[in-house]
Amino acid sequence: MSRYFDLVSKPARDLAGYFPTPSPSQTPADAQPPLIKLDANENPFGPSPLALEAMQSALAAANFYPDDDCAKLRRKLAAYHAVPMEQVLVTVGSTGMLALLCQTMLAPGLNAVTSERSFIIYGMAVRATGAQLIQAPLRKDKDQNKDGFDLAAILHAINDDTRIIFLANPNNPTGTMLEAWEVDQFLAEVPPHVVVVLDEAYYDFAVHFAALRKVEYSRSLEYLRRGARVIVLRTFSKAHGLAGLRVGYGLGPSELLTYCARMRNPFSVSSLAQAAALAALDDDGHIARVVSNNASQAQILTDRLSELGHRVVPTAANFLYCDVGEDASGVAGRLRGEAISVRPLSAWGAPTSIRVTIGTPEQNEFFLSAMRKIAGIPSRAADRPPDVPHRW
Ligand SMILES: Cc1ncc(COP(=O)(O)O)c(C=O)c1O
Repeated sequence: MSRYFDLVSKPARDLAGYFPTPSPSQTPADAQPPLIKLDANENPFGPSPLALEAMQSALAAANFYPDDDCAKLRRKLAAYHAVPMEQVLVTVGSTGMLALLCQTMLAPGLNAVTSERSFIIYGMAVRATGAQLIQAPLRKDKDQNKDGFDLAAILHAINDDTRIIFLANPNNPTGTMLEAWEVDQFLAEVPPHVVVVLDEAYYDFAVHFAALRKVEYSRSLEYLRRGARVIVLRTFSKAHGLAGLRVGYGLGPSELLTYCARMRNPFSVSSLAQAAALAALDDDGHIARVVSNNASQAQILTDRLSELGHRVVPTAANFLYCDVGEDASGVAGRLRGEAISVRPLSAWGAPTSIRVTIGTPEQNEFFLSAMRKIAGIPSRAADRPPDVPHRW
């Protein structure tokens, strides 16, 4: 009999934990060829040079604790988003904000609602409080949006014990996006005892895709300004390329954020993370290059994977959801043998699908060649397509 089983809390006993794919530090530095990491929706271009410079300057003061309040960064974010500073809470990644909100609002007997096949951390943050996560089914209709959320089913799942709804927009791992009018209609139906989390981790990518497709992506800050019960999540981990620093934030009603702030670990956002985030906000050029590469490469990858007979869901983020029509773990294992890491999605109930981060043009070409190789199709490096203009 284990010595600690009876001593730990029920959530600690029941939780399975999170199993990320290996980080670069876990793969030998001299591995040949070097591993191409397309498994965690990271930015393949790295941090902005301005953020690197700011971290260099901040290093010498690393003997001091960071500003617990992240005042400078909150002030800058407040001005950037045109909201009062009290409506901004900086956290250890946006998952830090998720965890704080769950600790603040949930307890055994209560629940949160989301869609099936969404961000895996929601379940962990909810269950760690002893509450339950209810997952509504995805859309069943056979149109091209069948991988999208069924907002009616999410509304239907709400009960008196629901306190939070999570809407990942765009969603991870499907990459699907809700348009602003859909969220407008949805919010009008949500009862007042429920807070809606609009998780916009892929905001910059989605804004760019929406402009190309001539649709409206998000009015999340307007909801906040008019007093709606929403928390908007943003992060520096994706378009800004600072995933390793763990810095994100929530924008929400000031009273609710005050309660959340009481629950956080003191000094949790490091001084380097604060310095880098402040500088990254000044580098619009970096973001523009990142999102534009992402959109053009999304199209090339989608076309080429479709030619190989795979079903690819149109993405609004920096990754593709691709049904490879066979055991995805096997495909991921064979790609790993070619020094490419992708995410197989059996844990999301999609055993024949993988999620692939959109990389640099070179990384994507390497990935496509590996996909052909593991399928036994001769390489077509010679007829690599020239840069195709955006269609989306
Ligand atoms: C939907 C969604 N939300 C939030 C995050 C978390 O990002 P971070 O905690 O790095 O800010 C991710 C990261 O993959 C995500 O996919």
